Amino acid sequence: MSRVSSAAVAGALAPDPQSSEPLYRQLYDKLRRQILTGALSAGQQIPSTRILAADLCVSRNTVMNAIEQLIAEGYLEGAAGTGTFVAAVVPEPITPADAASPHPPARAPRWSAFGERVTVPRSPADAWEGQPAPFRPGIPPFDLFPFDLWGRLASRRWRRRPFELLNYGDPAGYLPLRRAVIDYMSVARGIRAAAEQVIIVSGAQQGLELTARLLLDPGDPVWIEEPGYHGMWTALRLQGADAIPVPVDDAGLDVQAAISRARRVKMAYVTPSHQFPRGVTMTLGRRLDLLHWAEQSDAWILEDDYDAEFRYAGRPIPALQGLDPHGRVIYLGTFTKVLFPALRLAYLVVPPDLVDRFTAAKAAIDRQSPRMDQAILADFIEGGHLARHIRRMRTIYLERAEALVHAADRELKGAVDVARPQAGMHTIGWLRGDVSDRAVSRLAGDAHVVAWPLSTCYRDTAAPPPGLILGFAAYTEAEIAEATRALAGVITRAASPARSDG
Ligand SMILES: Cc1ncc(COP(=O)(O)O)c(C=O)c1O
Repeated sequence: MSRVSSAAVAGALAPDPQSSEPLYRQLYDKLRRQILTGALSAGQQIPSTRILAADLCVSRNTVMNAIEQLIAEGYLEGAAGTGTFVAAVVPEPITPADAASPHPPARAPRWSAFGERVTVPRSPADAWEGQPAPFRPGIPPFDLFPFDLWGRLASRRWRRRPFELLNYGDPAGYLPLRRAVIDYMSVARGIRAAAEQVIIVSGAQQGLELTARLLLDPGDPVWIEEPGYHGMWTALRLQGADAIPVPVDDAGLDVQAAISRARRVKMAYVTPSHQFPRGVTMTLGRRLDLLHWAEQSDAWILEDDYDAEFRYAGRPIPALQGLDPHGRVIYLGTFTKVLFPALRLAYLVVPPDLVDRFTAAKAAIDRQSPRMDQAILADFIEGGHLARHIRRMRTIYLERAEALVHAADRELKGAVDVARPQAGMHTIGWLRGDVSDRAVSRLAGDAHVVAWPLSTCYRDTAAPPPGLILGFAAYTEAEIAEATRALAGVITRAASPARSDG
């Protein structure tokens, strides 16, 4: 695979000093044009950010912003430490610059600052609608969902001619559901709040987005876990906030490292029960440190408890929200993992003085989440079915987690260390040796195995440890065994010296 020299492209990429466009945007446009006219072709390695920055006399941040945007949109591929390449398949057709076009070039739409920050396509996973294949993470086993029961609860509601559920209602959510959530979560997770503090949202992503919009201004610094959840990166980018990656170790987010990086931040985003993606649980000591810092610094903590219901080892540690006497925690829970993602129902538990503004913002964005689904879900929880379903899934997931650990022990020994899951629905397979997780992931995809590269969850680490995010909850033991065997073949090929495409 060829590497294009910086001198060869610097002329075409040089920024226009008269232009009012930000430098990174000019560079983004020019690089994209080079790709779409075929001047830079699939697989070509582009010069490093350091060299490009020096040749173009711009800051390295400018180059990195442009390149990150092109990676996010699918024009480039690569990661810190492995190089950046023109993607094999780019999102638009390639049209050579000299090809006569019957149409004048379309004028680029003038987006708002928010529109500019939206990347298209956000990720190929967003458009994915197929059957889950091992090891796609974050998906529950649809075949084990209690369809008949849910159907009975739904038809009972519909048969009662529920006019109040067809109407507009409280944007904060259907009160019986908010009560059911608090009753359940106070026991299961130690949440301490009144039902009125629960705001029902359309999926955790809306909760992240709403919280970022209401509490952050462009440029506001926010701690985010490194490696971290891409959904939160998106919410912060859309808001123009300054995301400050903070390392995660075996005890969770490193609070001291965070303070020494940037003490005065507006918010910390954490996944303490089961860190996404590494899977560690934040220790009680760290939780208390974080709460103390938030109180002292007048900062918010956004606690994303996305799959806390599944714990296989050790004591469950109560949610930060329940340990917080000062009202600094905004708690986010979702039914995506315990029920199914298309339900799009999740909830925020916010301090009392935030309730009215969050409710008004929810109303301004989409008025309310679907009331009929909220009512069916309330019946499901009140009838004890949620607790029963979670108990049943916990047993099955633990068996599947064990199946994965054993299959990895058989098939991947010496090549991948699969961490025994303590919680949640996925774990990490740490790749040994000098293997690119992106290369493994690409080859695995060809073998119909989904193995997301861990390195894509890092933003600020020069050489992230290579690993694969392995979901196990949705797959039978036989599927896990077969996919692990396929992965073993892939890793052998990826590690062979003949391949050099990081
Ligand atoms: C860290 C984290 N938060 C939240 C979610 C759930 O998001 P949603 O409720 O929007 O489906 C996920 C799902 O993958 C996740 O990994």
